[in-house]
Amino acid sequence: MSKTIQKNSGYKKYVVSTKLQYFKTHATKIEKTFAEELSSSMNSDLKFINPKFFYDKKGSDLFEKICTLPEYYPTRTEITILKQLQDELASYLDGNFRLVELGSGTSVKTRLILDILSKLQDNTEYFPIDISEILTESSEQLLKDYDDLHITGIIDTYEGGLEFLKNFDDKKNLIIFLGSSFGNFSPNAGYKFLQKINSMMKSDDLFLIGLDLVKDKLILESAYNDSQGVTAEFNLNILSRINDELDADFHLKDFSHRAIYNVKEQRIEMYLKSLVNQSVIISKSDLVLNLKKDELILTEHSHKYRLSQINELLEHAGFEIKHTWLDDNKHFSLTLASKKSDLCT
Ligand code: AVJ
Repeated sequence: MSKTIQKNSGYKKYVVSTKLQYFKTHATKIEKTFAEELSSSMNSDLKFINPKFFYDKKGSDLFEKICTLPEYYPTRTEITILKQLQDELASYLDGNFRLVELGSGTSVKTRLILDILSKLQDNTEYFPIDISEILTESSEQLLKDYDDLHITGIIDTYEGGLEFLKNFDDKKNLIIFLGSSFGNFSPNAGYKFLQKINSMMKSDDLFLIGLDLVKDKLILESAYNDSQGVTAEFNLNILSRINDELDADFHLKDFSHRAIYNVKEQRIEMYLKSLVNQSVIISKSDLVLNLKKDELILTEHSHKYRLSQINELLEHAGFEIKHTWLDDNKHFSLTLASKKSDLCT
């Protein structure tokens, strides 16, 4: 069993074994953020909930289920690409790399990268960064299958995890950010986040990002309106979480799931629609929400990109693109980049 051996800088360190340790940000910090963020985001004209709050245990499990749905093409397409790029990616990896993963979830795709690394090096260090404790389960699973793996899990926001890693040591990092999770950022916040990653990178670190591409509206909308209603359940679950954690009284039956593709903004927009006039109390946010019938609460933006935009975005944020891999249908992309060198020669 894990035991707490150290408290520092907002993190608790848990050592499970010589091969597995976690740093976890204090729970109160996350809870306070949740309550505070909602007290402003739900108190404006356009009410919204930050999609990072989807991922409690239940939400993370539901998301894993979404990833296996027939309509949800991103996960299996990205896996197909990852399987095909094995040799090519290996050619960019000289020397020992530590794998750092943003938003690791259950680490299925991680395995494909670990397979490449374990062919190239005797020992691999893996630093998953995830806001959800789901990473503890997946880490133990990974250790069963990879002998020479050492895992340091960071249970925190991406920003917190990146800050933690900054100036950590001299080892080379391969930072991966898969699944088009980046798509949740607004263009401006996304740009700043890329700059943040870029600024913590050393000159020989590498960055691999998976991004969903612009495509037919029908394909996009059915990926977020699946026939089994799992995405709807995932969306509604955020209200259960608010009920449980912030003492609120949402009645889930009074809301419905809605996801549309906004062509101009190149994004899926996901909402919870109030089916009746109602008021809801969110105690820990000191809030009484008045919702009109048909009023929408925004829960997610999932941006889609054109290849030219990906290149522009990464270069603008200080990256040099090494390679972009696509599937045959050009539905999804994986881009490998390094930090542009400051040297003007
Ligand atoms: C985890 C943000 C990549 O936008 O496709 C899936 C989340 N939401 N179905 C996405 C999600 C509804 C997913 N990301």
